[in-house]
This record gives sequence, structure tokens and C-alpha cells, in this order.
Amino acid sequence: MLFEKIGRNDPCWCGSGKKYKQCHEEFDNKIRAAKLRGHKVPTHKMIKTPEQIDGIREAGKVNNAVLDEVAAKIKLGMTTQEIDDIVSETTKKLGGICAPLNYEKFPKSVCTSINDQVCHGIPSTEDVLEDGDIVNVDCTTIYKGFYADASRMFCIGNVEPEDKKLVDDVKEMVNRGIKETKPWGYLGDIGQVINDYAKANGYSVVREIGGHGVGLEFHEDPWVSYVTRKGTDYLLAPGMVFTIEPMVNFGEPEVYVDEDNDWTVYTEDGSYSAQWEVTIAVTENGNEVLAW
Ligand code: MF3
Ligand code: CO
Ligand code: CO
Repeated sequence: MLFEKIGRNDPCWCGSGKKYKQCHEEFDNKIRAAKLRGHKVPTHKMIKTPEQIDGIREAGKVNNAVLDEVAAKIKLGMTTQEIDDIVSETTKKLGGICAPLNYEKFPKSVCTSINDQVCHGIPSTEDVLEDGDIVNVDCTTIYKGFYADASRMFCIGNVEPEDKKLVDDVKEMVNRGIKETKPWGYLGDIGQVINDYAKANGYSVVREIGGHGVGLEFHEDPWVSYVTRKGTDYLLAPGMVFTIEPMVNFGEPEVYVDEDNDWTVYTEDGSYSAQWEVTIAVTENGNEVLAW
């Protein structure tokens, strides 16, 4: 697809209606050169049009508003089912759809992951937020057919200083990853800064689960690892949209999946884990965070 012969005066493959030479010709030349240097390069499918990015931005606004509502209401003694209720009601009110519900048999509208739960915690009337808990709320909204995916951490009551620090440090890692997100850089640049900061603070980054392209579907290519090295992995090009969502453990990196529900991921050593997630677009000049 990427290297199909296309005349310089033909309409561009991106659908802009412009001539190829005035649109993505130079872009394709940069991609071709990176490919010759041995890099993984984005396919045309990974490059969103400005209209699609507008759609994802709108989905992101709804997703942000839902997370804001959770932030305003989350409190000690609340069940994770009550968080699910806030998410599903607010999303519906704003005209969106909760992507997790029934996604590959996921039974709820949002993921709520507490303490040693790394991700994919399932809301329940049985799970009460307790003093000292750290909880991740991961929302994905479909709005007018576009997807935005983001998560935040919440500290319940009196959280141990070291756990609060983990939460803050992982947010800092995502911020460092955002700064590395720029056209003609590499996906591995993001992984490196995140992993470096985790290691410098004595944490470990989960290897098996990563971020993903997002926007037209829930999970698209590329897969986004946070244990990659600078200058490796995919070339970043304007129009790519993906998540940065490192899962960082206080202890060892190993994780396992709950056998009963086939979803919830826990740290093997029982140490606490934190995660923040953004949906980000690579732009001509840098990046734009579309959901957080
Ligand atoms: N929101 C998660 C992610 O960041 C995916 C959750 S899948 C679900 O990729 F089914 F559990 F919702
Ligand atoms: Co995600
Ligand atoms: Co998510």
C-alpha cells in the first residue's frame, strides 16, 4: 500500500483532494528513507486525516468530562460499581457510548483497578474504596464513531507517602513520554524516557501490556511498549494517534491474569501498581493530547 506508484499530479492518497506533490509526497519520501534504514514505518492506515483527528478530539472531550465527573464524586466508602454508574450515566448524558461494555466480553463500562491490580479491574458492588487505596479509572468513549481512551489515578483518604509518590511519578513519566512524541522521532524514544524514569525511582514497567493506536477502533496498530530504546521501533509521523499508558509496579515487573474473570491483571509480588493514560496525536510540529 505505502509504496504504490502514485503520480505527482494525482490526488493524494490521504483524501485531501490535493495533488500528491503538494500533499504527502515529501512525507512518503521520509517514510521510505526510514524504511531503508531498517525502521518500522507507519502504514497509511495508521495516518489519520485532520477530519478524523477532529472526531477523536470530540470523543476525547466527552471522555475527559466523564473522568472529571468521576474525579468530582469519587470518595472513600464508594463501591467500584458506583464509579461504573457515574461513567455510564455521564457518558450517555453526553451522547457517547462506553467502549469497554461487552468489548471481548468485558462485563462493565469502565475499568477500575485498585492497589496491586495493574489494569482491567472489573467494577463490583463488593469492592469498596478504602482508606489508603490507589485506584485507576480507565475510560474509553465512542462518540460519533470515534474512540478516545484515557485513565487517571485517584488517591483515597490517607495514602502512604510512597504510594502517593508512585502515583505522581507515573504521571511524570507520561508527561515525559508526551514531550518525546514528535514527528520523525521514534516510538522507542517514548519508551526509553518512561523506563529510565521508572528505573531511576526503583520501579519496574510492565512488559506484557502496552499502549495502542486508537481512534477508528478501540485497539489499533501500533502496539506501544514502554521498555523500548531511543531511536528504535516505529517512525513517528503526523497523523498517528495512539495511547501512552505505562503500567508501573512498585516492585517486580511480573504480572498475572485473574483466572476467575480472565481480565483483571495483578502484580505477581503483590506490590502496588499505577497507570495514567493519554490519547495523543502526532502533529506537524509536535503533538496534541486528545484525551486525559
Ligand atoms: N482501556 C483499556 C486500554 O487502555 C482497555 C480496556 S479493555 C476492557 O487499552 F475491555 F477491559 F475495557
Ligand atoms: Co488504552
Ligand atoms: Co484505557
